[in-house]
Amino acid sequence: MAVIALQGVRGGAGTSSLTAAFAWALNQLGEQVIAIDFSADNLLRMHFNMAVNQPRGWLRAAFDELPWQQSALRYAPGLDFVPAGRLNDDERMAFISQPEKYGRAWIAQMEALKRLYPWILLDVPAGDTPWTRAVLALADRVLTVVTPDANAHSRLHQQTFPHNTLFLLNQFTPVSKAQQDLHQLWVNSLQNFIPLTIHRDEAVAEALLNKQPLGEYRPHALAAEGMMTFANWALINLRENA
Ligand SMILES: Nc1ncnc2c1ncn2[C@@H]1O[C@H](COP(=O)(O)OP(=O)(O)OP(=O)(O)O)[C@@H](O)[C@H]1O
Ligand SMILES: [Mg+2]
Repeated sequence: MAVIALQGVRGGAGTSSLTAAFAWALNQLGEQVIAIDFSADNLLRMHFNMAVNQPRGWLRAAFDELPWQQSALRYAPGLDFVPAGRLNDDERMAFISQPEKYGRAWIAQMEALKRLYPWILLDVPAGDTPWTRAVLALADRVLTVVTPDANAHSRLHQQTFPHNTLFLLNQFTPVSKAQQDLHQLWVNSLQNFIPLTIHRDEAVAEALLNKQPLGEYRPHALAAEGMMTFANWALINLRENA
């Protein structure tokens, strides 16, 4: 049993794409997984073929005072996801100013969820806010998604990260000399840098355009194979440690 939060070192690092791809890869390895979208942007669902105009989600349910369970969806046997749901602008502001009021059901439900799912993946929005802190605190491990560029490098040195953070490199282009250098630097200097990378790969972008998790869309793409290798690594290193 493991609760794994995924969060980008900044927005757009590929966190939601990797959350969906990781959920798919674990499920392909025979694991039961639930992926939960903790961002009011409500984009994780787009990797799981949900209709754009479908408002359902746990935040929607919280505003409507309905149980969140009604917002959970089954994508494949053993692969469930919970979208955040659609909010109007006023609701969005209400959530931003009082996140704990709407999110407290999760804090209370996590123990029950752990009994149902060996893997719980949390898609956490980038940034350090009371809400992201509350969600990260639910996790056994935090996967911080980093992209190989100077922006991420600066952030790695000036931000603080939870003690249970592991860094996962996404969008790696090994022909870039600058990226090779950054990769080497991080391998040698960062504690808890996962020794596997997810390459920059058109298949990741196309999978989202196709509304599918990466491994379902193109299982033999370089990034999909990287994700499958990572999922195998996670079975050994994340489940037991958690
Ligand atoms: N390894 C990759 N190769 C190519 N494109 C990628 C890769 N990872 C992510 N992308 C693309 O980058 C864009 C942003 O990805 P995604 O939405 O997963 O990021 P995010 O970190 O969740 O963003 P946000 O901060 O908005 O939540 C998407 O169009 C996605 O297809
Ligand atoms: Mg996202």
